[in-house]
Amino acid sequence: MVIKKVGVLGCGLMGSGIAQVSAGAGYSTVVKEIADDFLKKGLSSIEKSLGKFVEKGTITRDQRAETLGRLKGTTKFEDLGDCDIVIEAITENLQLKRETYATIDKIVKPPAIFASNTSSLVVTEMMTATKRVDRFIGMHFFNPVPLMKLVEVVGTITTSKEILDEAMKFAASLGKVPIRTSDRSGFVVNRLLVPYLLDAIRALEEGVGSVEDIDNGMRLGCGYPMGPFTLLDFVGLETTYYIANIMFEEFREKRFAPPPLLKRLVLAGHHGKKTGRGFYDYSDPANPKPLY
Ligand code: CAA
Repeated sequence: MVIKKVGVLGCGLMGSGIAQVSAGAGYSTVVKEIADDFLKKGLSSIEKSLGKFVEKGTITRDQRAETLGRLKGTTKFEDLGDCDIVIEAITENLQLKRETYATIDKIVKPPAIFASNTSSLVVTEMMTATKRVDRFIGMHFFNPVPLMKLVEVVGTITTSKEILDEAMKFAASLGKVPIRTSDRSGFVVNRLLVPYLLDAIRALEEGVGSVEDIDNGMRLGCGYPMGPFTLLDFVGLETTYYIANIMFEEFREKRFAPPPLLKRLVLAGHHGKKTGRGFYDYSDPANPKPLY
């Protein structure tokens, strides 16, 4: 099978990035949102990101226009019907995802591949809402999608080898570097990243260092582009808390258990950069102030 047309479910932070790289790589791309205002917001973030690439000279104005020309926004599932692959990047809610997959399984042509961008849910659990058990995979992109090179390609115990190979080729055609991984919560990256982020919070709770000192430690001592607290605020504290809970549920290991401070920040609505406050205060976005 040859992938020509790509469907993306969800035009939030991840879905808009995936739609952007898909259209940018030359695929005719349809991105579906639940309502017009969400769609408008997602499409305008794509325009902004493409604008940044034009400013930097990474792409030309013509390439920007061509990319946007290959991109179609919709609020109707029916518009995904003739896609060769549908990448789902909707809210990380298993029930909602299962219902969505059951719906599109009846609408999208049977040979099409379904790929979930989930970061921690069990891919097999979504797959069982459909009849395409051999052509259901995980394709986990990283934030910000237009810049981060990695895609985790996740096979379940029923995914066919041909489909996995096709997905690896497709991810590479998007300009990404795919790695293959199995359907275990967190896959490769979050399996290692989440315990590290949670441990940074534990170190803070134990008084090992301040937010700024721990961030500087990892940035300057290990060459990480962002320290753990900057990254936590960037990913969203509620997202990390959600992923950690799922991984703890799966493995029952302390290293995945969310520390009390994370839970309290999430309960207080301090979700990081997007809410203006997390481990840093973003009142002046160019100059985040460490809070702990
Ligand atoms: N589109 C286009 N350009 C963008 C962009 C986007 N979406 N986002 C940022 N940029 C641009 C910035 O505008 C900036 O441009 P200028 O150089 O012209 O100013 C440039 O990219 C570099 O950005 P920054 O100045 O902010 O500096 P940076 O060098 O720190 O790069 C970064 C940003 C690539 C995000 C880098 O900090 C980084 O790699 N951080 C780590 C990110 C990471 O770990 N992501 C994974 C999170 S985990 C995840 O996603 C999985 C999960 O399941 C939770």
